[in-house]
Amino acid sequence: MTQDEMKKMVAEAALDYVETGTVIGIGTGSTANHFIDSLAGIKNKIDGTVASSRTSAERLAAHGIPVLELNNVSEISVYVDGADESTRNLHLIKGGGGALTREKIVAAVSHKFVCIADASKLVDVLGAFPLPVEVIPMARSYVARELVKRGGQPVYREGFTTDNGNIILDVHNLKIMEPVKLEEDLNNIAGVVTVGIFAKRPADVLLLGAEDGVKKLT
Ligand code: A5P
Repeated sequence: MTQDEMKKMVAEAALDYVETGTVIGIGTGSTANHFIDSLAGIKNKIDGTVASSRTSAERLAAHGIPVLELNNVSEISVYVDGADESTRNLHLIKGGGGALTREKIVAAVSHKFVCIADASKLVDVLGAFPLPVEVIPMARSYVARELVKRGGQPVYREGFTTDNGNIILDVHNLKIMEPVKLEEDLNNIAGVVTVGIFAKRPADVLLLGAEDGVKKLT
């Protein structure tokens, strides 16, 4: 089975978490794209979706799935999204696609966060995947210096602007032993919009696609 087939398999498994007559939060990335395509088959069952990126909103709209403004929605039953890394505690690194801020907002609003990933994303310690940090453009150099002080090696993501008009620094060489603590610390650097550690609000369920089927971690 290819990695993409595993992503498709977990995306289909996540349909079990879709509750009739509710609003569904939609993530960003290739695994989330599979989920959007699967959701199209049951679109009449839901009230609508809130998307974590313009790209996902466009894909949803192309399927004729209603996309709602978060400000017009009071509740999201479940948020379904991929991850770049996950531990067994369901602490995540996200933001490889650069949508981390809107992803964190939609995850915060949602009652349940179902993370869908192929088995290669499961790690013992977060940090081998460079940690994305969304930064206000004028703060780029200052934030980079602060990240170096903390042992990271920030790399400016060339030619990329987030949906919010900001830049991304991808931080290499971190071994994240205390994800909640580091998330709080990095979020407090002036100029940081969002750090791609999802530990204060981790996933509630992790569906992992492997050769022998879908594994569920909670
Ligand atoms: C998007 O900003 C990310 O958080 C994605 O969820 C993450 O990069 C996973 O992407 P894939 O599903 O493409 O592996």
